[in-house]
Amino acid sequence: MTPAGAVRLETLAGAAIMAVVPDLARLRVAVFRDWPYLYDGDDAYERRYLAKYAGMADATVVVARDGERVVGASTALPLAKAEADMRAPFRAVGLDPRDWYYFGESVLDAAYRGRGIGVAFFQAREARAAALGYRRTTFCAVERPDDHRLRPPGYVPLDAFWTKRGYVRRADLRARFSWRDIGEAAETSHPMVFWTRQR
Ligand SMILES: CC(C)(COP(=O)(O)OP(=O)(O)OC[C@H]1O[C@@H](n2cnc3c(N)ncnc32)[C@H](O)[C@@H]1OP(=O)(O)O)[C@@H](O)C(=O)NCCC(=O)NCCS
Repeated sequence: MTPAGAVRLETLAGAAIMAVVPDLARLRVAVFRDWPYLYDGDDAYERRYLAKYAGMADATVVVARDGERVVGASTALPLAKAEADMRAPFRAVGLDPRDWYYFGESVLDAAYRGRGIGVAFFQAREARAAALGYRRTTFCAVERPDDHRLRPPGYVPLDAFWTKRGYVRRADLRARFSWRDIGEAAETSHPMVFWTRQR
């Protein structure tokens, strides 16, 4: 029995990732519509964006399957191969992006949450980072104001979960990413903060 019960985790790399790109695109568009991302995603754009993982030998996609159906996924790649906007904050404080393995999204169908799959996504990506020789891992999270009109009442932020996994919020490592929020006509720029862990 895995921590996720009937759900099976699979770590994919290289060309094997192509087969799950449509599932990953579907999950990103569906899950990131919710707070705090509010992302008005487009499936065709997502597929093009995600295909880059398949072309990178040291990228990782962890998928969670219920039977054959993909119900969740989590991604990672070397920070040195991520967008320039993500590498710049590290360089600015004297950290070498080549030392870091960067975790992209974790997206899980709501029906499968609270069963340990999120924890298993971290463990699988950390295992892959270690296998590739990285001692440092990082990810970033959007920062929304607490009084935002779309914040659901009783929303529990993921900060405690990330802290428990050994990650530290780095107020000195910030970036801005642009996307179109639900209900908006155009893209806006969103403040992101990095979280890091060193073994
Ligand atoms: C983030 C996400 C992948 C976590 O998946 P999950 O399988 O539900 O997480 P887990 O069951 O492993 O639980 C993780 C932690 O969250 C907390 N948690 C679990 N269920 C919870 C619930 N219903 N309410 C509040 N906290 C909960 C627990 O503290 C748990 O940590 P612990 O077991 O170490 O104490 C999932 O919630 C998700 O897809 N969220 C939307 C997208 C997102 O925010 N992604 C993260 C950034 S890309």
